[in-house]
Amino acid sequence: MRLSCEVNGERYQIDGVWEGESLLYVLRERLGLYGSKNACEQGECGSCSVYLDGVLVCSCLVLAGQAEGRRIVTVEGISGGEGLHPVQEAFVEAGAVQCGFCTPGLIVATHDLLFRNPHPTDAEIREALAGNLCRCTGYEKILDAVRLAAERA
Ligand code: FES
Ligand code: FES
Repeated sequence: MRLSCEVNGERYQIDGVWEGESLLYVLRERLGLYGSKNACEQGECGSCSVYLDGVLVCSCLVLAGQAEGRRIVTVEGISGGEGLHPVQEAFVEAGAVQCGFCTPGLIVATHDLLFRNPHPTDAEIREALAGNLCRCTGYEKILDAVRLAAERA
């Protein structure tokens, strides 16, 4: 099939797509957008989180065919231009990155949280990021990063 969709503000027409492949596969293997990570491929870890028409989704659970005509924003697109988004800066400054595999998903999820709730409590942060697994940091630095981003929001 030919897949037509918008990714990070650019229109794409991608030929030869199998309807059953995942949106994550399309992003990484067909468009070369490697920010969204492929860890579990079953909706458990959040490392592949992107926006689909403004809604936070696990792109490993979205079929390519479901992305037809839709608007997708990945971690590469959230800053909307040159440089880092404040959420990305906060993760760097707080030292919330070790191997970095979970980081893109956490950044997109944090971006979504702060858009909906600019000043979340710790409990709200934990709830919002409950679907994003990190096997390195112990989460404390990630919480620091979200608090830092919220202070600046
Ligand atoms: S790779 Fe999609 S949730 Fe883990
Ligand atoms: S920094 Fe390695 S999994 Fe989170």
